[in-house]
Amino acid sequence: MYTVEAIKALGKLRTPESLDTLLTLFDEALPIDIKREVVSSIGRHNDSNRVYEFVSREAFGKAHPMELIYQMFRTCLYRSKEDSRFQELRERIINHYHNEVIDKMNKYYDYRQSRDRAQPHGRITGPILLTGDCEETLKQIPDESVQLVFTSPPYYNAREYSDYTSYSEYLAKMGRVFTECGRVLEAGRFMIVNVSPVITKRPGREFESIRYPIHYDLHRVLTESGYYFVDEIIWVKPEPSVPDRISGYKQTRKPLSYKPNCITESIMVYRKNCSFLLDRNMKNYSEYDRCEDEDIDTSNCWYIAPKADKNHPAVFPEELCRRVLRYYSFERDAVLDPFAGSGTLGRAARKMGRVPVLCEVNEDYAEIIESEALGYYDVRGRNNRAHHKQITIW
Ligand SMILES: C[S@@+](CC[C@H](N)C(=O)[O-])C[C@H]1O[C@@H](n2cnc3c(N)ncnc32)[C@H](O)[C@@H]1O
Repeated sequence: MYTVEAIKALGKLRTPESLDTLLTLFDEALPIDIKREVVSSIGRHNDSNRVYEFVSREAFGKAHPMELIYQMFRTCLYRSKEDSRFQELRERIINHYHNEVIDKMNKYYDYRQSRDRAQPHGRITGPILLTGDCEETLKQIPDESVQLVFTSPPYYNAREYSDYTSYSEYLAKMGRVFTECGRVLEAGRFMIVNVSPVITKRPGREFESIRYPIHYDLHRVLTESGYYFVDEIIWVKPEPSVPDRISGYKQTRKPLSYKPNCITESIMVYRKNCSFLLDRNMKNYSEYDRCEDEDIDTSNCWYIAPKADKNHPAVFPEELCRRVLRYYSFERDAVLDPFAGSGTLGRAARKMGRVPVLCEVNEDYAEIIESEALGYYDVRGRNNRAHHKQITIW
């Protein structure tokens, strides 16, 4: 009866005899975890010729479980730097299997190789307001200098401040902005978007109004802009706070005329593509960087009343920002809202020791942000008026 430990011990010997034994064991009917260890131990042996012969013989055309192929691929990855035959085998395996896991392993290996050469990115230390179209203004922000993006983009043409000629033009614009956000966002950090389906105004009673499921379409836009899906949080509002759609049906009770009141919005949680686990992002902080609040949201439904604002027709509530900041950023992180509106994220960020980076195209709203949301205080509470709008990096 073989154990993983026994195979490992055999692998560590690295003698021609131990390699003989491992190659013989590979042909036996063994449990998969033992067999995987056999492949791994063969891969660690010094005799490159025999290891190469083994992988090139077994990796193709045999009905081995993929777990064994992954182990053979790992051998190729780690030997490819010193032996070009393994580089060639590595490419053959990628082309032969066209498989997501192999692709990820390959990218992770490349990332590990480049990690030591990479320069650390700068950090933003003071609040920033960029006035103008964020697709352009964001170009002033250095690569990977922001640690969270949270935004509520225009909901297509639902409000007077947006006027896209078509829905596809709107989605294309979101794609360009999200790509730019991805450039400034640190690898592996979160991109969080608040949207809900909208209905556009109809030009007359004879026309049907069109309802757009924006969050379904933004999923594709986000994945094509360099992020992957993590979670959907549902923001639930009290029913009396939303526009009434149900009273018609209540009166007539006519099937097909049913229109429920929409009391939810989507909080789409995505992560910027990268080849490493979240642990690596968290390692940049000390063990004391933790949130001690006791009231944790344990489900993906967050019950929060919406907010009306005298200055802006579509603000999100500060409480929503508070929760997003608390779960997806650390103190001193730079947090970006490319569609800042009245700057609600900036206000919450300031109160929670994060550094707001806000973009707004409408000058009136930008003025509100400047006077009310940023408040000219930097993350340590120091008056920062003089440095405001400057990009401070350390
Ligand atoms: C849904 S509102 C955001 C409201 C914000 N969350 C708040 O709490 O005040 C979207 C905002 O994006 C702004 N906006 C639209 N297109 C923009 C663009 N290309 N660049 C920057 N801001 C833009 C609009 O003027 C509007 O204020």
